[in-house]
Amino acid sequence: MDTGIRYIDDIDCKGKRILMRVDFNVPLDEGGNITDDTRIRSVLPTINCALDQGAMVVLASHLGRPKGKIVPEMSLAPVAKRLGRLIEKSVPLAPDCVGEETKKMISDMLPGHVLLLENLRFHPEEEENDEEFGKQLAEPFDIYVNDAFATAHRAHASNVAVTKNVKIHCAGLLMKKELTYFKNAMDRPARPLVAIIGGKKVSDKIGILKSLCDNVDKLIIGGAMSVTFFKALGYEIGNSYAEDDAMETCLEVIDLAREKNLKFYLPIDFVAAEEFSASAETKVVPYQEIPTTWLALDIGPATVTLFSEVLHNAKTIIWNGPMGVFEMDAFSRGTFDMVKHVANSYALTIVGGGDTDVAVHRAGEFAKMSYISTGGGAFLEILEGKELPGITALK
Ligand code: 3PG
Repeated sequence: MDTGIRYIDDIDCKGKRILMRVDFNVPLDEGGNITDDTRIRSVLPTINCALDQGAMVVLASHLGRPKGKIVPEMSLAPVAKRLGRLIEKSVPLAPDCVGEETKKMISDMLPGHVLLLENLRFHPEEEENDEEFGKQLAEPFDIYVNDAFATAHRAHASNVAVTKNVKIHCAGLLMKKELTYFKNAMDRPARPLVAIIGGKKVSDKIGILKSLCDNVDKLIIGGAMSVTFFKALGYEIGNSYAEDDAMETCLEVIDLAREKNLKFYLPIDFVAAEEFSASAETKVVPYQEIPTTWLALDIGPATVTLFSEVLHNAKTIIWNGPMGVFEMDAFSRGTFDMVKHVANSYALTIVGGGDTDVAVHRAGEFAKMSYISTGGGAFLEILEGKELPGITALK
């Protein structure tokens, strides 16, 4: 499927110095240990594609938000170590992403060597998309490859400015996979196409909800945001979280769904709790009966049955956002049950953004999903139909 950009598997990389922008923004625990290396593993095919052709691969990434300063806890050192273990090669870490010492390390590389540059965001110029910084990054290289799908919604020097300064630029294989799955799901989907949108805030997803109304056959709303819809419809929601500023939007989405003639679903029951606590007293209540001082923290069992019925003939399912506070056992059932229904459907299933991937991994069902996006914000923006600057720059 044509995504309008070139990919690394179409490029001759033999003996070339490649700058590869990846997203190694991985979660670290307090001791600086990587707690999930999915983002590192997912670019291995691109790294191997270049190495197999005899290229010299220099990887560049950000980690966290150091705001243009050197923050030792946000060094990419743990990533260099983990990557080295995964590819069974030594992966030295350059002390910086630009500068004389780094340039020397790059020029000393031989075919098959891999080098990781230190955190791009230690320089304020990275997030400013500074032209000069882009030029410095690009200078030692013959080819630029962008495989950082999860950063593609940012217009930063390492994914936009840099492209103007390397003659050959293309995308990596992770980017290819992400864009191809996405295009398959949204441009020419097998129908019915069902979207499941959850999470806390309607306001974060206004654009997505409206854009989905143009394309999907069925729209399921779960999670805390569904409670805001009920409040907008005039129901009593007790002490549940609701966004007063988003009432209007909820009504607009409902009107739009009606206008577009798509099937629109809200929960029919909730797991409510006396307080926001893992050990609070809980009960299942119909959506009309959330007690005045209680909070709705998960979708209820009748809702899971309803939503699973809605999914039964789906041919494509896109899911973003959990159904409840799944981090607490008492309010995790709705999300995990939905993971099982989506995982066991015969549809093309695409999951991404927010903590949806975390929920799928915790439920142990990741292998059954057709595709789990590595993108958080990028997945949401592409779902909204926005152009991603990191991808536009490659066209
Ligand atoms: C992400 O984790 O979504 C990407 O790495 C982008 O990170 P950012 O939100 O700090 O730009």
